[in-house]
Amino acid sequence: MFITFEGIEGTGKTTQIKLLTNFLKESGHEVDVTLEPGGSRIGRELRKILLNMDSTDITGECELFLYLADRAQHVGQVIKPAVEAGKVIISDRFADSTIVYQGYGRGLDPKLLRELNDVAVSGHWPDLTVLLDIDPEIGLKRAMTRNLQDNKMQEEGRFEAESIDFHSRVREGYLTWAALNQERFVVINADQTPDEIFTEIKEKVVERLQSR
Ligand code: TYD
Repeated sequence: MFITFEGIEGTGKTTQIKLLTNFLKESGHEVDVTLEPGGSRIGRELRKILLNMDSTDITGECELFLYLADRAQHVGQVIKPAVEAGKVIISDRFADSTIVYQGYGRGLDPKLLRELNDVAVSGHWPDLTVLLDIDPEIGLKRAMTRNLQDNKMQEEGRFEAESIDFHSRVREGYLTWAALNQERFVVINADQTPDEIFTEIKEKVVERLQSR
């Protein structure tokens, strides 16, 4: 089973992925955790270009194809083998991030992005996508605090530095895209305590596992 987590900056995806991984392992599942961009060796090189503050001269189209290249490599080397081995694989971001950030955020056509992603994922769309939804004002404040604490503002801060308008478009884009793909998405209010959020996620994941 392939599960992805999506949402704007600072929704607490990492914490929830850890909680879910522990829970699934305790329930006897074999679980791999991965992320985008940077889930493969080549992807880690692409991640450096994509997230560094110095990449201000990157064009929208170049950014798009680097994310797609990262994904194609990630699917081939990491996701497909895990799914075929019968594992649960959880990815922190995946194809929906491209549709929402490059589409609803940057203004590229979401329908075209869906088609380009079909090539990159080669049949491996997620079985379940957890969207953590939060007001961008709250999310960004959390993400900035984390980057400052980890001293990662320069290396990883390119998206956090975008305007609040950009992040608001991304948030709305996620909600629109989730409504168009209801069979796969669950939307969770991320302005709650980590325990409250996890209780909701756990319920949805167990439901999905049982229906398989
Ligand atoms: P990351 O540090 O992983 O952010 P987060 O901690 O919020 O997950 O950085 C990934 C950034 O890249 C994030 O701001 C969203 C952006 N992104 C895209 O614009 N398109 C994509 O296809 C992906 C995978 C990420």
